[in-house]
Amino acid sequence: MNQDQMKKAAAEAALTYVEAGSIIGIGTGSTANHFIDLLAGIKNKVDATVASSIASAERLQKHGIRVLDLNEAGQLSLYVDGADESNHHLHLVKGGGGALTREKIVAGASKTFVCIADETKLVDTLGKFPLPIEVIPMAREVVARYLKNLGGNPILRAGFTTDNGNLILDVHGLHIRDAANFESELNNIPGVVTNGIFALRPADILILGTPSGAKTLKAS
Ligand code: A5P
Repeated sequence: MNQDQMKKAAAEAALTYVEAGSIIGIGTGSTANHFIDLLAGIKNKVDATVASSIASAERLQKHGIRVLDLNEAGQLSLYVDGADESNHHLHLVKGGGGALTREKIVAGASKTFVCIADETKLVDTLGKFPLPIEVIPMAREVVARYLKNLGGNPILRAGFTTDNGNLILDVHGLHIRDAANFESELNNIPGVVTNGIFALRPADILILGTPSGAKTLKAS
């Protein structure tokens, strides 16, 4: 099984968490795309969805799946999304696709967060994958200096603008041990919109695609 097949196996296993008549949150990225395409096969089971990016909303709509604005949806029963890294506490690094802000909002509005990924995303310490941080454009250099003082090496994601009109700094060289505290510290930097650590609201369930099929993990 290659990496993409493992992503698909994880997405398929997440279908069992979809409750009849529910409104569910949908993430962004190649693993979430597999979930969207598989959801199309049971689309009458869900009432509607809320998407974490314009790209995911368009993909859902192409399948004829109803997409609501979060303001019209209330609390969501389920959020399904991929990740760039997960540790064994199910703290995640997300934002490789640049959709971290809306992802964090929709994850926070959902009762259960099921993260789907291939097994290569499970790590002991977060930070090998450069940490994405969405910043207000005028604060780019101020935030970059702050991040250098914290020991990181921020690189501007070239030619990229988020769905919210902002920039992404990808921070290399971090070893994130206390993920929840570091997430809070980064949230306090003026000009930071969102950082890609999902530890204050971690995943509840992690489904990993492996060569022998999907494996489900809960936080340890
Ligand atoms: C999108 O902004 C990200 O948070 C994705 O969830 C993450 O990058 C995982 O992407 P893949 O599913 O494409 O590996």
